[in-house]
Amino acid sequence: MKRIKFPKPVRTKISFYRMKKQLAAGTEKLGKGYFAFVYTHKRKHNTVIKIGLCGSIDKVGTSPHNDGYLAFLKKTQRYPKNPFFPKVHSIKLYKHVNRFDRSTFYYVIEMEKLVRFFDVKRRSPLLKKWFKIYDTDEMDSYTLKPSNMKGVFAKQAAKVVRSLFEQFHIDIHEDNYMWRVTNQKSPQLVITDPAA
Ligand SMILES: Nc1ncnc2c1ncn2[C@@H]1O[C@H](COP(=O)(O)OP(=O)(O)O)[C@@H](O)[C@H]1O
Ligand SMILES: [Mg+2]
Repeated sequence: MKRIKFPKPVRTKISFYRMKKQLAAGTEKLGKGYFAFVYTHKRKHNTVIKIGLCGSIDKVGTSPHNDGYLAFLKKTQRYPKNPFFPKVHSIKLYKHVNRFDRSTFYYVIEMEKLVRFFDVKRRSPLLKKWFKIYDTDEMDSYTLKPSNMKGVFAKQAAKVVRSLFEQFHIDIHEDNYMWRVTNQKSPQLVITDPAA
């Protein structure tokens, strides 16, 4: 897997909403979160397109620099072989300035297609091994169990994810980790969006 470069924002006349509409046309929506929408790719079966606003929860769209997801991707780029991290094929960053002179930053990413629910019986022992419930306020929120993370890649993943929490909030819950289908017995856990 080659390392992708983190781009500088490109100015565009196309607003986030128009770009989203264009990308979504003729595709299937696979998911949506607080910042981003994920669609099937028109030609590549194992690739998805993710379009999202850059920023923090209280400053959505304002800057790529206070964005927990982009910070995560940036860190994972140093470990292209780590199976716990998503495989990203390309990243584009855009800056749109509207007629009131207000800038909005957003990204368009091509990445591997992952799956959300897997056979629960196979899934739950894996989950128990890696995650501990951190908070159950609105929905179960997890944190990694570093002492359980055995193996070079798992330790590396835990370290990278935990280093994000110096600047961002933990945001690991059901919608923010996924699975890669492999030809091994169990699917591979992939941490997709751990911090906000
Ligand atoms: N690589 C992927 N393949 C398939 N679906 C995905 C992928 N990445 C994210 N999704 C789906 O899209 C949703 C939103 O993506 P996420 O990265 O969590 O963005 P947000 O920052 O908006 O929370 C996820 O909860 C998941 O259901
Ligand atoms: Mg999310």
